[in-house]
Amino acid sequence: MALFCLDIRCLCIILTWTAFGNTLSSEFEIKVYPPQDFQIVDPGFLGYLYLQWQPPLFMNEFEECTVEYELKYRNVDSKIWKTIITKNLYFKDGFDLNKGIEAKIHTLLPGQCTNGSEIQSSWSEATYWISPQGNLETKIQDMDCVYHNWQYLFCSWKPGMDVHFDANYNLFYWYEGLDHALQCDDYVMEDGKNIGCRFPNLESSDYTNFYICVNGSSDSTPIRSSYFIIQLQNIVKPLPPDYLSLTVQNSYEIILKWSLPSGPIPENCFIYEIAFSEDDTAWVSTTADTEMYVMKTTNGSKQLCFLVRSKVNMYCSDDGIWSEWSDEYCWTGGMWKETLIFFLIPFGFVSLFVLLVTCVLLHKQKNLLKMVFYMRREVFLHQDVIC
Ligand SMILES: *[C@@H]1O[C@H](CO)[C@@H](O)[C@H](O)[C@H]1NC(C)=O
Ligand SMILES: *[C@@H]1O[C@H](CO)[C@@H](O)[C@H](O)[C@H]1NC(C)=O
Ligand SMILES: *[C@@H]1O[C@H](CO)[C@@H](O)[C@H](O)[C@H]1NC(C)=O
Repeated sequence: MALFCLDIRCLCIILTWTAFGNTLSSEFEIKVYPPQDFQIVDPGFLGYLYLQWQPPLFMNEFEECTVEYELKYRNVDSKIWKTIITKNLYFKDGFDLNKGIEAKIHTLLPGQCTNGSEIQSSWSEATYWISPQGNLETKIQDMDCVYHNWQYLFCSWKPGMDVHFDANYNLFYWYEGLDHALQCDDYVMEDGKNIGCRFPNLESSDYTNFYICVNGSSDSTPIRSSYFIIQLQNIVKPLPPDYLSLTVQNSYEIILKWSLPSGPIPENCFIYEIAFSEDDTAWVSTTADTEMYVMKTTNGSKQLCFLVRSKVNMYCSDDGIWSEWSDEYCWTGGMWKETLIFFLIPFGFVSLFVLLVTCVLLHKQKNLLKMVFYMRREVFLHQDVIC
């Protein structure tokens, strides 16, 4: 502490001396100090970090000036620094915690404060690194997350290669709006190990970073954690379109139609891929509409078939996953002839048979009635005779 005070006094002396020197010579040089206490703080949000600092020493010299800070930061193995210029004393961003993070900051004094050109301080530096536990082979493998129909997030993974039978994995997640990281509460299990997570309904968590950490525990070996940053709108897999229809307009034009996949995805967020076949020829095409005009290639085509799948388009996301293909819908050219052969003729035979049987039955019933009538009359006649 004593040393620190001494240091400040020393700096003061240097500064006043320089200021004093200015009145004597024109070689006055304004010096500005770097920000103090620059540090990277991890609030436990699985990759969302705070970079924060305090104003530099002796800023009261430039009271009427607003100092700015130039901040540069990157993941350790990245070649590119991200650069931010700010007047604040903090900055927040998402980082890949699988790697170390380095950052540096300096003070900028704008030209109007110094009556000349902009002045920069030297750099203040900070680094942050979650000390890795366990060896690389204990990490989970093949992490795969899909946001089904922009409604249900599901992630799955495979256990690490080099783990003992008692090892198990846990998934934690965080996005802006949550107070703290939450653990998955609906795991998918296989052989007693967690291999997937069904997430609850995630409100307003798209178009922002979604942070995931899968770590684990085992009595015998420490388990290496894995960190992921995703944006939910980029991993949407919609439902396939349904209610397909095909109308043959005239001898050469066909209209294919289908309906929007059900769910919350807006109509203008879809792109469709159509797989069409006409007898032996087939092609694939994409469209943003829910219908498509197609030219027939021959007048004599017997079978026209198509199926459709959907994906979220580039206006609503940077990426997406194709839905499953819809059921195939077919139109058969010789439909009437076939209907005649396979449906009408058997139907005719059956009708004829039913008619015949009915006639025979009716005829028999008539005879029966006649017989009863005659018998009754005989009885009456007989009674008459007795009377
Ligand atoms: C600072 O600016 C004023 C006018 O804007 C000028 O008169 C003066 O010479 C300048 N001083 C230096 C050291 O450049
Ligand atoms: C896994 O990560 C969560 C969230 O950061 C943490 O609370 C928990 O202690 C970690 N578990 C292990 C075994 O490292
Ligand atoms: C189909 O037949 C009609 C008339 O019967 C004709 O006008 C048309 O060009 C034909 N189209 C093709 C593709 O052969």
